[in-house]
Amino acid sequence: MEIFQGKFESLETALREQKFINPSDAFSTERWKTRQQLFLDMSREGISPRHSSLVRFLEENEQIEIVLDIGGGSGWIFHLLRARIQRPLTYINLEIKEICDEFSKEFKETHLVQFVDSWEPIFRLEKISLVYSNSTLQYISDEIFFENFKKIHHPQYLVLDDFIATSSQSYWTLQNYYGNFIPYCFRNLNEFNQKLLAQGYSVVSAEDYPQTLASGFDYGSERMPQTMVYKLL
Ligand SMILES: C[S@@+](CC[C@H](N)C(=O)[O-])C[C@H]1O[C@@H](n2cnc3c(N)ncnc32)[C@H](O)[C@@H]1O
Repeated sequence: MEIFQGKFESLETALREQKFINPSDAFSTERWKTRQQLFLDMSREGISPRHSSLVRFLEENEQIEIVLDIGGGSGWIFHLLRARIQRPLTYINLEIKEICDEFSKEFKETHLVQFVDSWEPIFRLEKISLVYSNSTLQYISDEIFFENFKKIHHPQYLVLDDFIATSSQSYWTLQNYYGNFIPYCFRNLNEFNQKLLAQGYSVVSAEDYPQTLASGFDYGSERMPQTMVYKLL
């Protein structure tokens, strides 16, 4: 069966399809939690379950002290950070409530990890130097993302792994998730970059991401980069 079905101009039209489920329902299933538990166990052993450019980025940018991860799953990346980065890094994981409830207890022993299930506490923090997200913005609309991103206190960098872009017009499709469908966005890269530029961020680098669900899918006329690094001007 195809991974993606349909092409819709907006999230609203995608949602009119029958059988869709909200990302929060899809990602609160036992199946997803089990997978994220496995990722956590692997990273504790020093094995990276998925490609992430975050460790290398933090090694190269020693001034960064606080990272916000949008949709960081079980928080598995923290074990890899702790193993490789010598300075004390605070890792804040913005996740859906069910994932926060399940995995925050795994980090009881350290004050360096915080799980949050809404954006509000993030706006009060003054020192988030880096906003990171791996394979999550495709489930979040531009309206929600930009509305909240602009309220975060001047992060210096935005780093996006497995960022799903297209050179054609932005559109939504439905991702087949074990027989149910989750709305999934392919964004026009230039438009997204322009919206970030309006908030003061310009592109530093754009590279391929090796492990995307969307590989081989319709990228429009050209292959799109999927690891994007943006810097506050
Ligand atoms: C494909 S997973 C990626 C997880 C992790 N970044 C990784 O690479 O393993 C997408 C994650 O985004 C989370 N998510 C979906 N919608 C979200 C939202 N509106 N706010 C925060 N997290 C969300 C899901 O719970 C899920 O864990």
